[in-house]
Amino acid sequence: MSRVYVFDHPLIQHKLTFIRDKNTGTKEFRELVDEVATLMAYEITRDMPLQETEIETPVTTCKSKVLAGKKIGLIPILRAGLGMVDGVLNLIPAAKVGHIGLYRDPETLKPVEYYAKLPTDIEERELIVIDPMLATGGSASVAITALKKRGAKNMKLMCLIAAPEGIKVVQEDHPDVDIFVAAVDEQLNDHGYIVPGLGDAGDRLYGTK
Ligand code: URA
Repeated sequence: MSRVYVFDHPLIQHKLTFIRDKNTGTKEFRELVDEVATLMAYEITRDMPLQETEIETPVTTCKSKVLAGKKIGLIPILRAGLGMVDGVLNLIPAAKVGHIGLYRDPETLKPVEYYAKLPTDIEERELIVIDPMLATGGSASVAITALKKRGAKNMKLMCLIAAPEGIKVVQEDHPDVDIFVAAVDEQLNDHGYIVPGLGDAGDRLYGTK
């Protein structure tokens, strides 16, 4: 069973309050999502392996630690996932970024892939799949399956807010993928929105509503 990590850092929780607030405008919303993504990236990378190297300080030589060169890939799910990419890149600028686009089939209501452009070596990378709202879990689960089919072996799922329903789906479908969130909310409403949530993340990021 995969694990769910809820980041209760005060800065994340403070910023999330303003992200949720319906009176927060597009510009501020986008800036806050970006900042929270950076703070979450700091926590998500906590287990990154280090290796020793030898350097010279102005005073002497010494052994010191650097990241062990594990290659990272960020995979935002279009379009709301884009809103968190730059925030993560602030801390991991060398990460490659792939994109996955999904639409909802009007008949089956299931997410279907319409776009994927991925780093060529995803099987060697530690991937962070990014989707701000883990609602039904359908999109995240289909995206993770699509990545696995293309060879991805090592993945984490990063979301701002998750509903218990979405967590359950991802945990059942992908017990190897840990989930990192800023909050787990109460439930989904009849329209598939997370309650209390923040509304439509894509619309709020891009001012389309
Ligand atoms: N997607 C969103 O943007 N918001 C929700 O509440 C659920 C899915």
